[in-house]
This record gives sequence, structure tokens and C-alpha cells, in this order.
Amino acid sequence: MGYNMVYSIGIICCLVLSYRLIKFVYPYLRPSTLKKYLASDAYAVVSGATDGIGKAIAMELANNGFNIILHGRNSDKLKLVETEIKTKNALSKVICLLHDGSINSQLDISSIKNLTMTVLVNNVGTGPINELVKYTNNEIDATITLNAAFPSQLTRNLLPYLNKHALILNVSSYAGLFPPPYLAVYAGTKAYNNAFSISLARELENTEVISLITGSVHTSTNTKPVSFMRPSASTYARHVLNIVGCGRKYIMPYWPHAIQTYVISLLPERLIDNATKNAMKKELTLGLK
Ligand SMILES: NC(=O)c1ccc[n+]([C@@H]2O[C@H](COP(=O)([O-])OP(=O)(O)OC[C@H]3O[C@@H](n4cnc5c(N)ncnc54)[C@H](OP(=O)(O)O)[C@@H]3O)[C@@H](O)[C@H]2O)c1
Repeated sequence: MGYNMVYSIGIICCLVLSYRLIKFVYPYLRPSTLKKYLASDAYAVVSGATDGIGKAIAMELANNGFNIILHGRNSDKLKLVETEIKTKNALSKVICLLHDGSINSQLDISSIKNLTMTVLVNNVGTGPINELVKYTNNEIDATITLNAAFPSQLTRNLLPYLNKHALILNVSSYAGLFPPPYLAVYAGTKAYNNAFSISLARELENTEVISLITGSVHTSTNTKPVSFMRPSASTYARHVLNIVGCGRKYIMPYWPHAIQTYVISLLPERLIDNATKNAMKKELTLGLK
């Protein structure tokens, strides 16, 4: 192979790598376009908004001028979040919708359908860690109802009432891309959230739909301490809102998670499988204590 040939291949490789690097970092560097959804008297609907990521996103949306429709299953916690939002943002209007999404996937939206709704955040989701044979019938049904049926029904019911230009954020998970052991049902529903979101992004013309592939975030469910790789829910929420307008159908909003995922993808699969299984076994043992 002549010198010119090697040189040309080198240049092409550098160009491809530069393109891939720019494509990777660009969504994290460009400014958010969240403000374009801030129509006059605009409301954002957030499911599972009484704790963790949902609460943090609701607080952050209120800080950005949105009125908030909070969904949760605990009326005391809904009241607390409402008060917290109104204390920090005196002009914010807050509406609470009380509904247990694991029992019934249909949330009654009759009280909100005449409002100007420009943002929907399908955040609610949870799931037990266990060997599949030890799940009860109810645990499986409740997890699938809450994580998959509930956001699908909510999105379908709200779509006719959302503003012409709207934003839908679906909180999916790394577990949906790389399903760990002892989380089969949860991981299955998170893969569903991702596929649902991507399909919808391709279907809807004027609505921006993004699947938020979420790594480890410190919340009431994930109580391991906050660290660089495990941000607080409020740090994560700020990254989520910064990613709006990125042009991607799915993304890890917190860039250290994206780098971590890329590095892990370079490792041998057997090594990752063993490490994940050991880590999850530890969680399972701690959870059973
Ligand atoms: N934290 C992580 O590391 C992580 C990683 C990947 C993906 N995610 C995803 O992020 C989303 C939020 O998780 P999180 O960690 O923030 O959880 P969280 O702190 O446990 O908060 C979950 C929220 O959903 C509500 N909720 C739970 N079950 C409900 C039900 N049956 N009906 C109505 N509301 C219900 C909770 O209400 P209560 O306040 O009454 O409990 C709370 O408001 C989930 O979709 C999860 O899969 C989280």
C-alpha cells in the first residue's frame, strides 16, 4: 500500500472520528429550547411528581415559568410539593391529580383538558428487585400497569388536548438497554418506554418526543449516596431540561452517564454480565434483609 493510500485512510478515519465526537457532544453544548413551550399560561404535566426525578423535574419546570399539573398517589405528598413550588415560585399555578397508576392505568383528565398544556413528562415508574419466580402475580401486573400501560394511556388521552407544538419526555432507563438480572419485569417495561417514545417521535409531526435514558440517580428508590456518577434528582432534572431541542429521539441527558455507557460497551460482555450479576445479588440480599 502506497504512502498516499495510508495517508488518505488516516484522514478519513480522523474525519469519521471527529464527526462522531461532535455528534456525541453537540446535544450537551447547545442551548436548551425549553422556552419555546412557554406559551401564555402554559401547564406542564408530570407523572409521579411527589418524589425523586418527577418532583425535581416539576420543580425545575416551575422555576422556568411553567404552571404545573402534579400527578401522585399520596395526597399529603402532593400538597407538600404544591406548597414547595408555590413558595419558590409565587406566580406558579399548581393542580394536583391523585391516582394510583398501578391499580388502574386510566387517569381522569376531565379537570385539566381545557388548560393550555405544552409539556408532558411521563416519569412514573418503579419495580421490585427479585428472582422472576418469586414475583407475585400482583407485582408483575402492577409493574406493567404502572410503567407501561399508564404512560401509554395518559399520552393517548392527553394528545388531543396538548398544544399544537408540544414536548413529551419519557423517562426510560439504562436497564431497558442493558437489562440486569433480577429486574426482568422492570427492565422489560423500560425497554417498552424507550420503544414507545421513539415510535411516537417518528409518528408525531409537531411534537418533540424524547426518551430519557436514565442511569443511576439518587432518589427515594435509589438511595445510594450522591456522587459524580449518581447525581441528585435536581442536578439530573436540570440536565433533562437542558437537553430539550437536542434533535435526538433518545439520549442520556446526564453526559457522564453517556460516557460511562460508552466505556462499558467496549468491555467484554462476559465481564459486564458477571460484574452486574454480583452487584445485583448484593442489592437483592440487602433488599431482603
Ligand atoms: N433513580 C434512578 O436511579 C433511576 C434510574 C433509571 C430510571 N429511573 C426512572 O425514573 C423514574 C422515577 O424514578 P425515581 O427514582 O425518581 O423514583 P421515586 O423517587 O421512587 O419516585 C417515584 C414517583 O412515582 C410515584 N409513584 C410510585 N408508584 C406510584 C403509583 N402506583 N401511582 C402513582 N404514583 C406512583 C411516587 O409516589 P410516592 O411519593 O407516593 O412514592 C413518586 O412520586 C422511573 O420511571 C424510574 O424507572 C430512575
